[in-house]
Amino acid sequence: MPRTSATHTQSYKLKNIVVFASGSGSNFQSIIDAISTGSLQASITGLITDRDQIKSIERAQFHNIPYTILSPASFVHQSVFESTLLNQLEIYNTDLIVLAGYLKKIPGKVIRTYRDRILNIHPSLLPKYGGKGFYGIKVHEAVLLNEEIESGCTVHVVNEVYDDGPVLAQSKVPVYKTDTASDLASRVLIEEHKLYPKVISEYLKRIP
Ligand code: GRF
Repeated sequence: MPRTSATHTQSYKLKNIVVFASGSGSNFQSIIDAISTGSLQASITGLITDRDQIKSIERAQFHNIPYTILSPASFVHQSVFESTLLNQLEIYNTDLIVLAGYLKKIPGKVIRTYRDRILNIHPSLLPKYGGKGFYGIKVHEAVLLNEEIESGCTVHVVNEVYDDGPVLAQSKVPVYKTDTASDLASRVLIEEHKLYPKVISEYLKRIP
């Protein structure tokens, strides 16, 4: 008797990623691209931003990804921001939160609810040049000021402390004497786009 296709169907459910971004979203794009080429098997069910008129939103619109703008500053009470955010994450049926250049602090309740299910990418070799105040171009300026000979990027699990959670992977780049901060940022970003989708793909296999 012929076996039906259902017999062969694996009951593998694609995991849902929600991306948080505050800016250009080139890392967001690298995740979208990895999904479309099949190197990352997941769906992006939503983008959460803290501001409008950013390139990340254009990317979401272009790829028909739902998005929500939630600015913490527009909430009088932080607890209402937290519960609105948690509610939105439930609507997006979130398995994994991926921070991609999100500049606001993730509320404690969200970290507790999604413990070990929030990843971040940081443009330095953590623990170097991490923590409060080290974001964007400031990271690369500090690397150049200290005459480092290498830098890179780090993907880590997010906990309550900025840039402090367990490191999952790093990628290194050389630093040249002639580099400007923006030269270095571009060199690191190229590595970020390769590293982040790969680490997300591996990490998704580890979460139930
Ligand atoms: C990246 O350098 C990332 O490491 C940091 O923020 C930047 C975001 O860049 N967390 P983009 O918006 O993904 O282009």
